[in-house]
Amino acid sequence: MSYTVIARTWRPKRFEDVVGQPHITTTLKNSIQSGRISHAYLFTGPRGVGKTSMARILAKAVNCRNGPSAEPCDECESCKGINSGNFVDVIEIDAASKTGVDEMRELTESVHYMPMRGAYKVYILDESHMLSKSAVSALLKTLEEPPGHNIFILATTEVQKIPYTIMSRCQRFDFRRISEKDIIEQLKKICRQEGIGYDDGVFQYIAIEADGSLRDAESMLDQIIGFGGSYIAEKDVINIIGIVERDVLYRIVRSIFDGDLKQGLELIEKTLSEGYDIHQIYRGLVSFLRNMMLIKVCEGIPSFLYIGDEEYKRVSDLLKEVEYYEIQNMLHYMLKAEDLLKGFFPKVSLEILYINLYNLSKLRDVEKILDDLERHDRTGEQAAPGAIEEFAAKETAEPLHEPNAKGFVEYVKKKKPFVGGIFENLLVQAEQDSFIIFLDKRYAGIIKNEGDEIRRLLKEFFGRDMAIVIKDAGQVKKNILDDFVKEAESLFNL
Ligand SMILES: Nc1ncnc2c1ncn2[C@@H]1O[C@H](COP(=O)(O)OP(=O)(O)OP(=O)(O)O)[C@@H](O)[C@H]1O
Ligand SMILES: [Mg+2]
Ligand SMILES: [Zn+2]
Repeated sequence: MSYTVIARTWRPKRFEDVVGQPHITTTLKNSIQSGRISHAYLFTGPRGVGKTSMARILAKAVNCRNGPSAEPCDECESCKGINSGNFVDVIEIDAASKTGVDEMRELTESVHYMPMRGAYKVYILDESHMLSKSAVSALLKTLEEPPGHNIFILATTEVQKIPYTIMSRCQRFDFRRISEKDIIEQLKKICRQEGIGYDDGVFQYIAIEADGSLRDAESMLDQIIGFGGSYIAEKDVINIIGIVERDVLYRIVRSIFDGDLKQGLELIEKTLSEGYDIHQIYRGLVSFLRNMMLIKVCEGIPSFLYIGDEEYKRVSDLLKEVEYYEIQNMLHYMLKAEDLLKGFFPKVSLEILYINLYNLSKLRDVEKILDDLERHDRTGEQAAPGAIEEFAAKETAEPLHEPNAKGFVEYVKKKKPFVGGIFENLLVQAEQDSFIIFLDKRYAGIIKNEGDEIRRLLKEFFGRDMAIVIKDAGQVKKNILDDFVKEAESLFNL
C-alpha cells in the first residue's frame, strides 16, 4: 500500500462521510435542499481537513442525476464522473501551478457557456491564495456578474492572502482541525475495514503527530502499514514517526516530581543517543504535561482527549500530589522557553529547561507548608506530618526568658547573623511555649532549611523547647506561586 491509497480511497464521498466539520455539512445540505445555492464559496482552514473533498461533494450534490438533494447519490454517471475527475462541468484548477493570465482568460471565457452535462458548472480553485494579480482581477470580473449556472469554490490554507475584494463576494466556511479523538476513530475504522490489526493506543501517537490533519494521519498510517504489513505494533509506530515513547516521557516527568534529576538527565541523554532529536523530546514533554493539566482540571479525561487506560492510571497517580496550576506553570514555562531550543546549544537548553521544570515543581514545598499550617490553624491540632512537623518540639521546662520576640531576634542576630537577618524581615511573636513566624513566601525555603538551627537557638534563648508555628502572612497561595513563577522567569530572561 502506498500513501495515495488510503487518502484517496478514503476520500469522503458524501457529506455524511466527512469527519468533523458538522457546521459546514449542515449548512451546505440545508442550502442545497432549500435551493439557496451561493455562486461563490471560500473554503479555508488548515491542510488535510477536507476542503477539496467537501468542494467535490458539493459539486456532486448540485449535479447529481438523482438530485439535487442534500446528499449526492454517488452512483449516477455525474457523481461517478466527478469522483474520477472526468466530468466536463466540474473544473478543478490548481492555482499554485496555473496562475497565468491565459488560463484565467480561458476560464473567464468558459463561464459564459452553459454546462454540458450537469445543472451547474463548478470551478474548484485550489490553493487560491496563489492566484496572480491578473488572475485575481479576471476572477473578480466573473464574480461580479456571475452567470447563474456557475459555482466557484475557492479553497485555501492561507485566507489572509485572499484579497478582500474576492473574499467579500464569497460565502466563507472555516474548516476546523480534526480533533485527536476523531482522527483516532477514523484510523480505527480504516484499519477495521482494511483488515489490519493494531496495538492498543497506537493511534494516539499518530493523532498527536498529525496535529489536526486527517490526511497527514492517513499518510502516516500508510507508511506504517507499508512497514509492518497487516499488524500495527506500537514500537513500529514509535520508530517510524520518530516520537518519544509515552513511557519515557512519563519517567522523565516522574523524575521531576521525585526530585531525581540525575535519572531525568540520564534519560534525556539516552533518548538522544537513540536518535531522537531535542524537539521531539520537547514536544513529547509538552504533550505529556498538557494531558496531565487537562486531566487534573477536568477531574478525569475530557471527551476530546484520547488516553489509554494504563497511561491514565499512571498519570492519575502522578497527579495525586500536584495542583493543576503547578502543571500549568510548568507548561506555560515550556511554551515560553521554546525559543531557547533554537539557539546554538539546543541540548544545553533542553537540560536547563528540564532543571527549571524541577525548580518550578519545588514550589510545592511552599504550598505544602502553607497547607499544613492552614489545617493546623483550623483544627488547633499539631500540624499534619510534613514540612512543619519537623519544626515542632513539645517538651516544656522553666522559662529562662519571658516570652520576648524582639529580644530573641537580637540574640539570634548576634549569634547567627544569617538567620538573624532573616528574622529581621519577618513578623514574629513569642508565646509561652511556641514561637510564631508569620511566613513570607521568600523565606519559606530558608526557614525550612534552618529549622534545626532555629529550634536550637530558641531553646538556648528561652531555656526550653518551643514549638515553631508558622502562619500564612496573609497572601493567597496561588499568588505566591505566581510570584515564584515570575521570579523564575525573570531569572531566565523569559
Ligand atoms: N474531514 C475529513 N473527513 C474525512 N476524510 C478527510 C477529511 N479531511 C481529510 N480527509 C482525508 O484526507 C484526504 C485529503 O483531504 P482534502 O484534500 O479534502 O483536504 P484539504 O483540506 O483540501 O487539504 P489541502 O489544504 O492540503 O488541500 C482525503 O482524501 C481524506 O482521505
Ligand atoms: Mg485541498
Ligand atoms: Zn449522483
